[in-house]
Amino acid sequence: MLVPIYVNDEKSMYKETLLMMPGPVPMPETVRGAMLSQSFNHRSKQLGACYADIVRIMKPIFGTNNEILVISGSGTAGQEAAIGSFAQGKKIASLVNGKFGERLGLISQIYGETTMIESEWGHPLNLESLKESLENGVEVVTLVHNETSAAILNPAEEVGKLCKKHDALFILDGITSIGGDTVKADAWGVDVAIVGSQKCLAAPAGLAAVSVSKKAWDRLSEKRPFYLDLKKAKKSADADPMETPTTPAIPLFMALREACRLVEEEGIENRIVRHHKLSAAVREAGKVWGLQPVPQTDALHHASNTVTGFFYPTGIEDSAIRGYCKKMGIEFAGGQDRFKGKIFRIGNMGIIDTPEILATLATVQMAFKKAGFKLEGDGMEAAVELLSA
Ligand SMILES: Cc1ncc(COP(=O)(O)O)c(C=O)c1O
Repeated sequence: MLVPIYVNDEKSMYKETLLMMPGPVPMPETVRGAMLSQSFNHRSKQLGACYADIVRIMKPIFGTNNEILVISGSGTAGQEAAIGSFAQGKKIASLVNGKFGERLGLISQIYGETTMIESEWGHPLNLESLKESLENGVEVVTLVHNETSAAILNPAEEVGKLCKKHDALFILDGITSIGGDTVKADAWGVDVAIVGSQKCLAAPAGLAAVSVSKKAWDRLSEKRPFYLDLKKAKKSADADPMETPTTPAIPLFMALREACRLVEEEGIENRIVRHHKLSAAVREAGKVWGLQPVPQTDALHHASNTVTGFFYPTGIEDSAIRGYCKKMGIEFAGGQDRFKGKIFRIGNMGIIDTPEILATLATVQMAFKKAGFKLEGDGMEAAVELLSA
């Protein structure tokens, strides 16, 4: 989106908004350019090669040797494909400590006999209750790895161990962790992992990719959705050249391939280090400002490395901070549902780097000043220190 630049309160020109959201995120120019090609037949070597490249590059990013299927649809389509294909009619436990865990639970309720194991948003999950559910015959567990709504990183490895011990299927929403943080789907015992294109991969919105283990294929549900049937997706992907069951979003596939190529060029390990460093800088700024972080961490639950959330101090309106920053051309997220108006969240996904983080922190600091609120310290300076170390 273009925003006006004001000179003495007069609109003088326009510039592009800097998107600091936890998705969608700014896209590299070559990713944008990849969407511009003329349409072509999707039953073709051209599409097949594009699909094969995406899968080849994504495997190490997911930490898997399993098959990966790409679906035309946003991250939620990936969630529903996973649950609809592998959990239909089964006993499901959904771990919830935020909006997206809740969404996985709501989808699960449509397809199976679901228990939601709920914690306060942003608080640690109740793993004792999960153990009990597993002892009582739960067959499928759903978890959001990086709970974007509360900026908390949940213990996927621990949950994977519990699932393995009780021989349950483990469905992991890695929508905002895969491509920006460490995910080891195979080592952690994840049966189905999901990523969304518009998050850490910095591709356009509209595609989800789902990895599926042999254990999950062996337990395929008999009744499955039509459009989101992963068995059909597998049959098409197994063809040579690779295909999709229905017409894919061809321009998005082309863009995702380019986005994956750029991840490969950077190296997933370097990319993860970059995400960790930038989120640490935002957390440090918040600490020095004296703001309360949204996630309540413990030995197993950590602050997210791809999005950072803080509560507003009493008396500060969301519009005073986010509204001011938006007017200045920097857009980040507020709170959803119960967190609406109470928190703000700064994303550092994809190609966001030091200059974007520093510009955002400086503008947030200005917004508090303009709102007449005295922050405890110079968070911006603290971030500069951390990022220049
Ligand atoms: C963790 C998580 N899961 C699921 C979703 C839903 O993805 P989409 O909006 O692409 O359907 C989001 C979106 O922000 C998310 O952050």
